[in-house]
Amino acid sequence: MLVELLDFLGSLHPLIVHLPIGIVLLTIAIDVFMRNKNNSVQRVITMGWFFSFFSGLLAAIFGWFLGDNGYYLESQINIHKWSGIAFVSICFILWLLRYTNFRFSKSFNRSVNLTSIILLMITGHFGGEMTHGQNYLFENLPYTKKKISVTTLSESKRSNNDSLFVYEDLIHPVMEEKCIACHNQNLASGGLNMSSIESMIKGGNSGAGIQNGNPFESLIYKRVSYPHDHPKFMPPTGVPLSYDQIATLEWWIDNGAEKQMPVTLTRNDPKTLRLMELQYGLDLREKTYLETLTLSSPSQEELKSIEGEEYIWRFLNPEQSFLDLKFTKKKIEINDLLKVQSIKNNITWLNLADCMLNDNHLSYISNFPNLTRLRIQKNPLVTNKGIEALQKLEHLTELNLYGTRVSNNTLITLGQMKSLKKLFVWNTRITDKDIADFKALNPDVEVIAGF
Ligand code: HEC
Repeated sequence: MLVELLDFLGSLHPLIVHLPIGIVLLTIAIDVFMRNKNNSVQRVITMGWFFSFFSGLLAAIFGWFLGDNGYYLESQINIHKWSGIAFVSICFILWLLRYTNFRFSKSFNRSVNLTSIILLMITGHFGGEMTHGQNYLFENLPYTKKKISVTTLSESKRSNNDSLFVYEDLIHPVMEEKCIACHNQNLASGGLNMSSIESMIKGGNSGAGIQNGNPFESLIYKRVSYPHDHPKFMPPTGVPLSYDQIATLEWWIDNGAEKQMPVTLTRNDPKTLRLMELQYGLDLREKTYLETLTLSSPSQEELKSIEGEEYIWRFLNPEQSFLDLKFTKKKIEINDLLKVQSIKNNITWLNLADCMLNDNHLSYISNFPNLTRLRIQKNPLVTNKGIEALQKLEHLTELNLYGTRVSNNTLITLGQMKSLKKLFVWNTRITDKDIADFKALNPDVEVIAGF
């Protein structure tokens, strides 16, 4: 009961403080601007100092109750508290001196007036900082940027995102900045110490801080996502957590609240993945082989080999290093393949459809290390044996075998090619049952087997 009463009086402090401010300013104004001070005016001024002292004392006492609730750090309160006490004392002394008809010189009078105004400003300013946050004075000036909370990652961390961890790099720094001053080993407000993940999960007087997998039952999550004027909102002073910081916390708790969760795990959630990209500048998409590959472009000399009419080609990237090559004639010879050996590293897409390609030809193609897409449809001479040679193509993602003579054994070969993502097999000797078995074993591969 008493505690609640004191809390209530404490909450009146921000209201009461305006009384001494108004009274003391008026008192000084009368003192400065009234030239002829007869006795009544002198008495009004004396009374003014008394009421400044009395209302200031009340405000100070209420402020004491407010400061006692733990929502303000000692270091934040100090200047405000001591300048407030000094102000109240000065008012008291001035009233006493005037009351006892002590005569003081003009210059003394001027300097005590000035001192009390300065003390008033200091007290008011540091009080404002506590309730409205640091920077409150200037943040609403035109042309200044409003301070919102952002978590920044260093360039080296961002570029090496395989070694980024959700707790260590995205959550702990926020807690460090906003919570740990009041929730640490020495000062564990509410019994809660947030300086380590273990003690944070363990929680404070009201129980566990984090309920694994359940953000909405987790006290720490609940306290930061209350409306800002909720009495239990955390942090009680300063800049609140931003939307992305709360969303990251939510995702982390939702997904197990482990210490060692890599940021790349957010790939399983498109919304959070997007957040990582927009808020932290993290590009977490899995890179395709070609995105990680840097090659020099073929020389003019080397390009001469494909200038004849048997090939048409184009570059696939602005750096002009990846080639898309297509054979146009009806019948291919070994010689046609030997010609392009000098640019084999650059050939990333290759189309050899409908040109009497055979298994022997395929063993040459298996030396093109960066081939990712190969089209050899409508070549009835191609059999399982030729496909076996292609196993060397570690980065092949797409293979078109439509209209060749491959059968089930080819599927066994292809099942071992881990990069394969897309496969065309209609009009071959592969049966529907083989395809079904293959799909069951390789769910990541899209198999196109006709209509
Ligand atoms: C200026 C001091 C201060 C800061 C900063 C602060 N807190 Fe608190 N916190 C307190 C006080 C005092 C209590 C106890 C009174 C209460 O429960 O409201 C408390 C209580 C809590 C509790 C309840 C503990 C329990 O078991 O009862 C949680 C959870 C909490 N804070 C989370 C946070 C989080 C998260 C942050 C950072 C975003 C934070 N606090 C920042 C002062 C602070």
